[in-house]
Amino acid sequence: MNMESAISPPMNPFVIHPAVIKEKRQEAPEIVTFRLQLEDPAIRKQFRFEPGQFNMVYAFGVGEVAISIVSDPDHPRELDHTIRIVGRTTDVIGRMQPGDRLGIRGPFGKGWPMEEAKGSDILIVTGGLGCAPVVGAIEYIFRRRENYGMMNILHGVKAPHDLLYRERFDAWRAHPRTHVWLTSDEPGKTWHYHVGVVTELFDRVQFDPNHTFVMMCGPEIMMRVASHLLSQRGLTPDRMYVSLERHMACGIGLCGHCQLGPYFICKDGPVMRLDRILPWLGKSGI
Ligand SMILES: Cc1cc2nc3c(=O)[nH]c(=O)nc-3n(C[C@H](O)[C@H](O)[C@H](O)COP(=O)(O)OP(=O)(O)OC[C@H]3O[C@@H](n4cnc5c(N)ncnc54)[C@H](O)[C@@H]3O)c2cc1C
Ligand code: FES
Repeated sequence: MNMESAISPPMNPFVIHPAVIKEKRQEAPEIVTFRLQLEDPAIRKQFRFEPGQFNMVYAFGVGEVAISIVSDPDHPRELDHTIRIVGRTTDVIGRMQPGDRLGIRGPFGKGWPMEEAKGSDILIVTGGLGCAPVVGAIEYIFRRRENYGMMNILHGVKAPHDLLYRERFDAWRAHPRTHVWLTSDEPGKTWHYHVGVVTELFDRVQFDPNHTFVMMCGPEIMMRVASHLLSQRGLTPDRMYVSLERHMACGIGLCGHCQLGPYFICKDGPVMRLDRILPWLGKSGI
C-alpha cells in the first residue's frame, strides 16, 4: 500500500459515484474493457484500491454487477474494468460508449498478498477471463520488480480466439526473470503455444515450493485440480491464494448473497488463502 492510500479516508460503501467512460476497447466479441473516470474530483482523489479488489458497477436504472479492477493501483484516477457480456446488466453496460456514465461503489474485498509475497518467486495460474483479477497484481510486481523473485505466468483459454490482453502477455514475456506460458484447450492455425489444459504446463515450470507464492484465478474446478497438483510438488496451502466469484449484492457482508461455507466472499475474499477455503472450493450448492 502506498502512502497516499494509507492516509485516504475510506470510501462510503453505500454511495454510488458517477463515473464517465473515457475509453472503450473491444477485447473479443462479448468482452469489453472500459476506462472510467470518477466525475467528482474529490472522490477521484480519495479512491484507492489494491490489486485483486473489485467495484460494484451500476448501470443506472438497470442493475449493479461485481467487476474486478484491472488497472494500475498507482494510478487510481483511471479505473479499468474488463466485462464479459453474460446477462441483463452486462448486456446494457456492453452497449455503452465513451461519454456515457456508469455508477461505481467500492472498492470492495481483500486483494492479493502483495506484502507477504515480497522476496518470493510468484506463480500465476489463470483460466479464461480469470486473468482479470491478477492483471493488477502482475503490473504491481513489474513496477517493484526488485522486491519479487522469478515470475511464471501460466494462462489457459478454451480456444485461441478467447485470448485477451495479447499485447500485455507479449510485454510481460519481455521482462527479465519472467516466463509466460500460454495454452488453449483447442488448437488453432495461428496458435503457436501449448494445446491442452493449463495444469499440463506445470511440468514445464521449475519452482522452489518453499520460496514460491501462487496466485490463482479461474473456474473453481481448475483451481481445485491445480492446487492438488501443486501440493504434490511440495507447495503448502498457506502459500497458495485463489480469487473467487459469487453472486453479490451489498458488497460489504450484510445481505448473505455471496456466502460460501462460513465466509462472505465480498468481504472475506474475493482473494482467499487456499487453506481457509479448500473444503468448499469447486463444490456446487454451498
Ligand atoms: C468478485 C467478483 C469479481 C468479478 N469480476 C468480473 C470481471 O472482472 N469481469 C466480468 O465480466 N465479470 C466479473 N464478475 C462476474 C460478474 O459480476 C457477473 O458476470 C455479472 O454479475 C453478471 O450480471 P448480469 O446482470 O449481466 O447477468 P445475470 O443476468 O445476472 O446472469 C447471467 C448469468 O451469469 C450468472 N452469474 C451472474 N453473476 C454471477 C457471478 N457473480 N458468478 C457466477 N455466475 C454469475 C447467472 O447465474 C446467469 O447464469 C465478477 C464477480 C465477482 C463476484
Ligand atoms: S454481497 Fe452481500 S454479503 Fe456479500
